[in-house]
Amino acid sequence: MKKVIKIGLISLLVLAVISTIVYKAVNKAPSAELAQNEQVLEIFKAGGCIDCHTAEPELPFYAEFPVIGGMVKKDSQDGYKAFDITGLMAALENGAVADPVDLAKVEKVVLDDRMPMFKYYIMHWGSSLNAEERDIVLDWAKNARASLYADNVAEAYANEPIRPIAEELPYDADKAALGYMLFHDTRLSLDNTVSCASCHDLSTAGVDNHQYSHGVDDQLGGVNAPTVYNAVYNFVQFWDGRAKTLADQAAGPPLNPVEMASESFDQIIAKLEQDKEFAAEFAAVYPDGLTEANITDAIQQFEYTLLTPNSRFDKWLRGDAEALTAEEIEGYELFKKYDCATCHNGPIAGGLSYELMGHRNEYFAERGLEMTIEDNGRYKETQLERDRHRFKVPGLRNVEHTWPYYHDGTRITLEDAVRDMGYYQSDVKMTDSEVAKVTAFLKTLTGEHQGFAITTTNSVDDIYGHDDEHDDEHGHDDEQ
Ligand code: HEC
Ligand code: HEC
Ligand code: HEC
Repeated sequence: MKKVIKIGLISLLVLAVISTIVYKAVNKAPSAELAQNEQVLEIFKAGGCIDCHTAEPELPFYAEFPVIGGMVKKDSQDGYKAFDITGLMAALENGAVADPVDLAKVEKVVLDDRMPMFKYYIMHWGSSLNAEERDIVLDWAKNARASLYADNVAEAYANEPIRPIAEELPYDADKAALGYMLFHDTRLSLDNTVSCASCHDLSTAGVDNHQYSHGVDDQLGGVNAPTVYNAVYNFVQFWDGRAKTLADQAAGPPLNPVEMASESFDQIIAKLEQDKEFAAEFAAVYPDGLTEANITDAIQQFEYTLLTPNSRFDKWLRGDAEALTAEEIEGYELFKKYDCATCHNGPIAGGLSYELMGHRNEYFAERGLEMTIEDNGRYKETQLERDRHRFKVPGLRNVEHTWPYYHDGTRITLEDAVRDMGYYQSDVKMTDSEVAKVTAFLKTLTGEHQGFAITTTNSVDDIYGHDDEHDDEHGHDDEQ
């Protein structure tokens, strides 16, 4: 009896030693002679990342087997829905700078030891990342971020996913001055009642604080107006990204039937040309005078000036430790911990990628409103199923004043927007105290424009009124 146990133990030990040796042999970090991007490429290839994160993965033969095949296919489809690694693999291959959002996402799953999934590497020896490989990826991510952002943050914060906003970007002052006038000019609209500023008032944080905007003849649009402040940082414009540049974007509203409703740019130009003084001023800057391209270029030049630097968060990033309270810093830590910064990163904490609304939990089914065309998001432009309900991630600068939130304007308070993001995008049920901390952090992203703090002169009460029963019953008496 004793002997049997002894033999059993010895064989177990031998087995453990052999498997450790084999495992170590197949799970070797790439050669240090390779450049760092090549090492990361090797690690991701061995990690099977492309099996689950590309449109057309090469699935193993057993993907056709019953049960297990279904699981493999599902992981691969869910993986591709969650993250497309094609761009990143190409960048690694070409030694190009990685996209900041890809970078943040990969860094986060490696930090959390989440990828590849356990059930994958248990089947594919050598695919899991050992400590050395993990360090290589994290160090590569840090270097890649440093080359993406050449701004002056304090050394301790050199690898933070959110970056300070520039004090100023290059622009042409004469053109921007014309752009400022055009932005506030109602003659861009059919009946001379609506200007860009009607929906993007600079004294109301660059938004209108309504769920949907009111255009000519008080017509209602179907999607919430994002802010024009810092829009220059967006990788594309509009929720669905249908405009590549701010100038392209500016050509849209004047002819949009529910916004400014002009029939053509010729119609707008004819009106502007009657204003001899303006036409002359314009021609002094743009020799070929009033054209659609020049008008939209001037507006774009003006929009380059709509930056909101000097937020408390930026001061903190630049090294002013007193700029944030302990609660706000805790909120920022939670923001990173709960994956928020994997989508909301860069100088405006967003604006750099399209992401699924309902990344972790289905959003639209629970919303309780009828689906609209706008809910399709990026799909409207590409007709690709993967793009359905994907939206350009909104930036979060000055977000405390840009209510209501989401493309459908359904969240009025920032607390609600934060709590629901946690659930739908990150699958966490945040406690009230966590929501309060993250909200406190987000408020530190409020900056200044030309020396004035960004704010909104609208109030929630004015716009949403006191129409619920509670208010009717207790009214204002209680407040005295
Ligand atoms: C067996 C399939 C599979 C493999 C292999 C795999 N993933 Fe994933 N990955 C998934 C699935 C499924 C999800 C979505 C669910 C989740 O996050 O757990 C996902 C999510 C992700 C996300 C998005 C996470 C988020 O929170 O938005 C990233 C980034 C990612 N994977 C990177 C990688 C990298 C890098 C590798 C290789 C080291 C890898 N994955 C290997 C299936 C896989
Ligand atoms: C009637 C209200 C209204 C008017 C007038 C209007 N906008 Fe907008 N603006 C919106 C709405 C709503 C959106 C979002 C539309 C979408 O994404 O499909 C938007 C989007 C934008 C964006 C994109 C921001 C982002 O984050 O994607 C910019 C920039 C912008 N508008 C600038 C302008 C300029 C410049 C003008 C004048 C030429 C103008 N808007 C006129 C309501 C308006
Ligand atoms: C998978 C990507 C992703 C993650 C993770 C994510 N968000 Fe978002 N966030 C988005 C998208 C996309 C929208 C726009 C959704 C819409 O309009 O329907 C958004 C909108 C928001 C808004 C509203 C902004 C506005 O102007 O309407 C806030 C606030 C916000 N997110 C905060 C957070 C916080 C806090 C977290 C973490 C708990 C988080 N987000 C996690 C992608 C993400």
